[in-house]
Amino acid sequence: MAQVSDKVMVELRNVDKFYGANKVVKNLNLQIREGEFLTMLGPSGCGKTTTLRMIAGFEAVTSGAVIIEGEDVGNKAPYQRNVNTVFQNYALFPHMNIYDNIAFGLTEKKVKKEEIRQRVGEMLSLVQMDGYEKRMPSQLSGGQKQRVAIARALVNRPKVLLLDEPLGALDLKLRKQMQVELKHLQRQLGITFVYVTHDQEESLTMSDRIAVMNSGILEQIGPPDKIYNQPATKFVADFIGESNIFEASVGSVDGDNLNVIFETGSAEVSAAGFSHDEMVYISVRPEKLKCSAAVVPGFNIRGTVKEHIYVGSIIKTIIELPNGQELKMSLLAGTPLISPGEVVWVYWEKDSTVVLHTHEETLYNLIEQVPKIEVSV
Ligand SMILES: Nc1ncnc2c1ncn2[C@@H]1O[C@H](COP(=O)(O)OP(=O)(O)O)[C@@H](O)[C@H]1O
Ligand SMILES: [Mg+2]
Repeated sequence: MAQVSDKVMVELRNVDKFYGANKVVKNLNLQIREGEFLTMLGPSGCGKTTTLRMIAGFEAVTSGAVIIEGEDVGNKAPYQRNVNTVFQNYALFPHMNIYDNIAFGLTEKKVKKEEIRQRVGEMLSLVQMDGYEKRMPSQLSGGQKQRVAIARALVNRPKVLLLDEPLGALDLKLRKQMQVELKHLQRQLGITFVYVTHDQEESLTMSDRIAVMNSGILEQIGPPDKIYNQPATKFVADFIGESNIFEASVGSVDGDNLNVIFETGSAEVSAAGFSHDEMVYISVRPEKLKCSAAVVPGFNIRGTVKEHIYVGSIIKTIIELPNGQELKMSLLAGTPLISPGEVVWVYWEKDSTVVLHTHEETLYNLIEQVPKIEVSV
């Protein structure tokens, strides 16, 4: 099994991309290491495909640089870069059989027939499609087409494989199976994968690191557990997994212990680097939220149990606050439940929340920096 090395394979340096007046990628800086499985995650339209196409060379950067193995590839055509792309729609040639589809890149490069036969054969076994050489793409299922598309990209032995929502067209069960297969293949071959998806669960299960993008901006990059447990921004906290998010102001500060005040109550959290009166977001995962029939010291959040939703082995309890905000609390099935309509007091362990600075803070700082204008009457 190959390991991630320290060597930087692909680097994006201060990359901006405009389409007309529309800036779709904003000062992107990213280093992807050799052998790494890096996922670019974000909602539709956030710039993932554009970024991938700039690495592949199908799209030019407006400013900044794309560097592959230490070399600025700005002037290189896609086929001159040591990367291959797998697209969401497979893009197989419909009039060619599977063998010719996989062999295509090698035939173009005038590789000897015997070597082509050997390499195509290897690829077919690798993606478990032995015996399908003579079939036409129309005779394959979605999952099989996707395997062929991957084999066709890998047969060129690229150092980097770019994958743009490669499993997006498959049904859930097949997608889960292909996730495992792809991850296994990546480890086995030690090829650097740059994988694009809008599916946060997929990114958490497959990646060495996740780069979360929002409106052309890289919000956070890190390993899955870090992204999940220590989201750096409200967007990341909201987009990855489920979160209960409170807008709050910091009431009192005692070392790392903060008392925070929001519309529907007050609570205690533990976090460093915040000051009195600062506006913050408090993010609490459903599995960290607790409730009690009696008031818990340090907390003053009164809610009403609205309903219980059974999700397999987990029960999700919805608690409604007086301002209409609905909190999600997950419990293991079998835990005694409080009946809908009952009043409960919500609380959590002090260190089980994430406290985030708000944009308001940035705004206040900006306003303070604006020179005062003298007004003469
Ligand atoms: N060829 C293009 N011309 C103009 N705008 C484009 C083009 N391709 C993408 N865009 C715009 O750039 C933004 C990012 O698109 P894209 O990279 O495809 O996002 P994603 O893959 O994350 O869904 C979107 O607002 C999209 O409409
Ligand atoms: Mg896309």
